[in-house]
Amino acid sequence: MSIIKNLENDIIKIITSAGYDISEPMFQSSNRPDLGQYQINCAMSLAKKYGKNPREIATDIVNELEKDPRFININIAGPGFINITLKDEYLAETLNIIKTDIMQNIDQKSNNKVILDYGGANVAKALHVGHLRSANIGEALKRLAKLLGYQVLGDAHLGDYGRPLGFVILEIKKRYPDLPYFSEEYTGDFSEVELPITNSDLEEIYPYASAKAKEDLTYLEEGRDITYKIQNHVRGYYDLWKKIVEISKNDIKKIYDDLNVSFELWQGESDAMEYFPKLQEIFEEANILQDSEGAKIIDIKKEEDTSPMPPLLFIKSNGTISYETTDLATILERKIKYNPDEIWYCVDTRQELHFEQVFRAARLANLISDDVNLEVIGFGTMNGKDGKPFKTRDGGVMTLKSLINLVYEETLKRINPQTVPPEERESVAKTVAIAALKYADFLPYRGTDYVFEVEKFADLEGKTGPYLLYSTIRMKSLLNKANNINYQKIHILNSDIEKEIALTILNLPLILTKAIEAKSLNDIAEYLYKLTSQYNKFYNENKILVEENEQLRESWLVLTEIVYKTNTLLLDVLGIKVPEKM
Ligand code: ARG
Repeated sequence: MSIIKNLENDIIKIITSAGYDISEPMFQSSNRPDLGQYQINCAMSLAKKYGKNPREIATDIVNELEKDPRFININIAGPGFINITLKDEYLAETLNIIKTDIMQNIDQKSNNKVILDYGGANVAKALHVGHLRSANIGEALKRLAKLLGYQVLGDAHLGDYGRPLGFVILEIKKRYPDLPYFSEEYTGDFSEVELPITNSDLEEIYPYASAKAKEDLTYLEEGRDITYKIQNHVRGYYDLWKKIVEISKNDIKKIYDDLNVSFELWQGESDAMEYFPKLQEIFEEANILQDSEGAKIIDIKKEEDTSPMPPLLFIKSNGTISYETTDLATILERKIKYNPDEIWYCVDTRQELHFEQVFRAARLANLISDDVNLEVIGFGTMNGKDGKPFKTRDGGVMTLKSLINLVYEETLKRINPQTVPPEERESVAKTVAIAALKYADFLPYRGTDYVFEVEKFADLEGKTGPYLLYSTIRMKSLLNKANNINYQKIHILNSDIEKEIALTILNLPLILTKAIEAKSLNDIAEYLYKLTSQYNKFYNENKILVEENEQLRESWLVLTEIVYKTNTLLLDVLGIKVPEKM
């Protein structure tokens, strides 16, 4: 258990020995550091419970706290807020414990088994800005949850099944009618057929065919027919579909790789289809499917609904399956294969209604046990300066590749030619670009929209990814220069800024708890900035390596090491790589 958590438990015990029962701790890092480092805010609620004056209760607690040698400057403010400060020697001691093992500063929260559905790239379609957020946030949450003890399986959940692929294949058929995939006479092995189509062709065909289906009714019908053929494994069509998935998947993997995002599972929507017959059985038994103009639907309205809740379309009138049903089949698949305690979906908040429909239908049919938590981790959009979703200059959809490129062009300008050799410049600039993009993405609470401002994101100063990287690299280089010095422990925390750093370090578990509860990375992003800025202030005020007082120098090096380790740990949680130089 972390030191701060232990301290919290000890304080609960102290309050109990003062004669008061509290269930939840009211111990927090102080927002009035002039009064004390921590606040204990339980006197007011205890006053109600015990029918006493809160100051009287606070005084009783303070009397007990004063017996504990770890605390100093214990005082009561206002109606009964208790402020306490840790003794410098004790603070130094806690850091020395963390120095020996940084994991002593991490609390295990849960060992629940979680399937985290994120990424969500669609086959044959260029990834766009929205996919960036799902990949970034999903990956970081996965890493955070694992650090805190959860067993997490990340699933890319490829969009490989819906209508659009029917149109893509239709368009290929129009352009290359002689391909053996479309010939009933062909009896050979499709794996030997050369497909004259690359991933970039697919990315061009996809929007073209989708647009065409919107204005051309025959095209729409033909496309639907092909979707049906794929879904029913009709020879040729199904084989071409598989081939396209493969081409596209390779490209998608490359992009995720660049983003430092990786998945334990590469399931697609189509994989769940195996479970569709069983799903249908469950829903039929539950007696909730209704006929509606040739389609089957589920009424999921609840009396307390205040906004419209359309029925879930279980099977369309043409026999194909909707996005909702695909997600229902996926729940069944996950339950059978992995038996998770929770399923988290990291998706755009605009998909919340879709998931509300899916979850309600799943509950109605008892598809999965009630105690399995199904949860949407929704995120807002990345907007342009006009406040609308970020677009290309001519108003088109911004692909993820072009977006990364925009940032890369900025970070490339800022790579220091004195430290980075020319042959490494581009790869370093790429790493920094991803860091810039990711960090900016984590800074606001995930559910809020934010504006894409490339110069700001790429800046080496301020709350940015590059600032964190630059500072962290500098810490490492300081430690490298000190490799002939023996430094073991902090002897003294000499200045206010050193104590501030120590407290920030000690409070890390409080931040991680907040982050996992909100399932948002913003508190970690802010924390990294705070710790790094505090450290930089300290760094600028002292000449660490040439300090003549050896105990002081040793203490400073240990402090540097702890900050460096904390930074690298948290940057890794955020999925941000630290280059060697920049
Ligand atoms: N492929 C979808 C999209 O691009 C996202 C998938 C999200 N996950 C899910 N289980 N539906 O919008």
